[in-house]
Order: sequence, then C-alpha cells, then structure tokens
Amino acid sequence: MITGDHAIKKLKEEAVSRLDSAQNAQDLEAFRVAYLGRKGKVPQFLRTVAGLPSAERRVAGSEGNALRKFLEERVCEVLKKIGRNFRAPHSFGETIDVSRPGKRASRGHIHVLSRVFSDIRSIFLRMGFSVVDGPEVESEWYNFDALNISKDHPARDMQDTFWLKALAARRAQVGQNTNVQKRQTSKDRLLLRTHISGIQARYMEAHEPPFRIYYEGRAFRRDATDATHNTQFHQMEILYVDKTLSVANFKFIIEKFLREFFNKDVRIRLRPAYFPFVEPGFEIDMTCVRCGGKKCTLCATGWVEICGAGMVHQNVFRAAGHIPGEWKGIAFAFGVERLAMLKYRIPDIRLFTDGDMRFIEQF
Ligand code: FA5
Repeated sequence: MITGDHAIKKLKEEAVSRLDSAQNAQDLEAFRVAYLGRKGKVPQFLRTVAGLPSAERRVAGSEGNALRKFLEERVCEVLKKIGRNFRAPHSFGETIDVSRPGKRASRGHIHVLSRVFSDIRSIFLRMGFSVVDGPEVESEWYNFDALNISKDHPARDMQDTFWLKALAARRAQVGQNTNVQKRQTSKDRLLLRTHISGIQARYMEAHEPPFRIYYEGRAFRRDATDATHNTQFHQMEILYVDKTLSVANFKFIIEKFLREFFNKDVRIRLRPAYFPFVEPGFEIDMTCVRCGGKKCTLCATGWVEICGAGMVHQNVFRAAGHIPGEWKGIAFAFGVERLAMLKYRIPDIRLFTDGDMRFIEQF
C-alpha cells in the first residue's frame, strides 16, 4: 500500500521520469494507462487514502489529487511536443464545442403496414372482438370446401392458387398433418391460403357460438402484379356469430371501423356481390377519403371499393358441425395494403415489399 508523504514523492518522481522518457504517442498512452487509467497507480493511491485516519486522509487526498492534475497537465505538454495523431481523453484538456450541430443517430421504426395492423386491431378489440390466428399453409378443405366452395365450383378459379403438391405428399408420407386439424387427410391437398377466411371455418368447428373474432395475415394468389395487386398481400377479417344479427349490424360495424381508422366522417354503400361463403354477399364502397365523395382523380366516381362482406352462408355452419339455421353470422374482410394506401396516399402496392428505405423511412 502506498501511503504517506514519502510514498507520494516517490510516485511523482517515478511518474515524471517515465513521462519524460516518452518518445511517441504509444509511450504516452502506455503511461496514461499505467499511472492515470482506472487501475493506474495514482487512482490506486487515491483509493487507499479512504482507509487513513482523518487528518492524514485530508493531506494524502489533496496531494494525490494535486499529483493527478500535475500529471494530466504534463501529459498534455508532452503531447503537444510529440504533436502526433493521439486522441487524448477529455480530462486531458480537450475542449468540446457545444455549439456544433449534433449527429443524428439513425433509429429503426415500425413498418407502416405493422402500424396500420396495430391501429386496425385496436379498433376491433375496443368493439369486443378477440384476436385469433390460423396457418398460412392451409388445407384445401378449410380454404375452399368448408367455405361452401366445392371442388367443381367456378369460384375456385376466382382465386388463382399456389398449390403445395410436394409438401402435401411429403407430409402424407411421414404422417405429419401438423397444420391441419381433423378434416385433413393425406388426400387433402395443401396450398398457400388464397384468403384468410379459412380461419373462420377452423374456429367455428372448434367453438360453440356466440363469438366475435378478428384475424389477420398474409394471403397468396397467382395474380398478375400491378399497382394494386401483388402475389402476396394482407387481409384482415372479422366473424361475428350470434342468434340475432342482420346486414344492419355489419353496416354499422364497418362504418364505425372506417370512421375511426380514417378519422373522417366516411359513408359506405353496399353493392350485391357473390362470395360462396356468404348469403347475401356484398362489396362495400366507401366515400373517397381525398374528395369526400365529390369525385376526384383518385376515385373517379366519389366512391372506392374497400371490402367484401356478407351474412355467413348456412352451409358454412353445416360444414363446421352446427345445425343450419340456429345461428347467424356476419363476416367481412379488407385488403390491408388497400387501407394503408388510401390512408397514406401510397400509389403502388409493390412499395410495401420492395424494401426500398426511401419509402420505408417516410413513415
Ligand atoms: C376475399 O378474399 C373474401 N375472403 C373476403 C370476404 C370475407 C368476403 C368474408 C365476404 C365475407 P376478395 O377476393 O375480394 O375477397 O379479397 C378481399 C380483398 O383482398 C380485396 O378487396 C383486396 O383489397 C385484397 N386483395 C385481393 N387480391 C389481392 C391481390 N392480388 N393483391 C392485393 N390485394 C388483394
């Protein structure tokens, strides 16, 4: 332990002699580490001071601090003499220009589509819906058959499908039907889901109504790609099953959702449309968010098509094991990119998947 007057004198002599023999920046840095660094001799000395009786402590402490200051200044002098490419720590007299502009640290942030999803989800959660999920690799049964789209039904052609023949065959071979539940057999082909409506069939099969569920995720279609179509895109859908429900209920829910999502007083209109899993079925148009229905270049008519909807077909209840006529269901689905494009005026759906930082950083 180095204490006392003699010890500090010795330490000073030793340090000064080593410092004076420094030839270059490396020597100087080695000196700094050995004498002034965190584990260096001077700090070590100062640490031992704490254990001394109070009178000695005061003297030894002030001498130790004076030595540190002296050596730091001396290092700066030597540094000037050596004048090399040596970066002294701030404590060695380097000045900081506080008026210089700062460097902006680049931070990651949530992708615009994730933000849109979380906005949508929170609106439906507030309306009492629970969030459920389902697989992207879906069976033919849940994607089509259970939704009243039979094998020879022309509606299968409405959604061009990516079939997973190889995977289905392999699964069947090893007897692993992990993604599909009881209806799936080795003969049931697998596909990339063309819509997320298969989740309603799965949920209805496993649960007794009434229920209100919300689900979301990717869908895949062999569509030609253009500004509004991609081979993979996202949908969100709700299914509401209860004893007494009508078209008026889903009209109310959709309108309420759109007003909250766009934060605008939008109106909707229903056009009869055909989806095999609903009866009656509708396509829903919304007043254009840009012109409010007055007609502009975005909408041409004052309306934009926004969602598919309808009352759940009783055949869908039957396929899920419920007695037809006992329950009523509302289902509707939105293309999520569509919603995001309208809200943020994004001109091309492909921007979401291109990974171009100039696009991503705008949100
Ligand atoms: C369906 O997928 C139905 N399952 C929706 C539904 C659910 C109707 C429940 C009734 C009741 P549709 O094929 O229209 O419907 O697709 C729904 C939305 O997905 C479209 O409005 C569109 O916004 C989006 N969409 C469809 N194909 C593509 C694509 N290739 N690229 C981007 N978005 C797409």
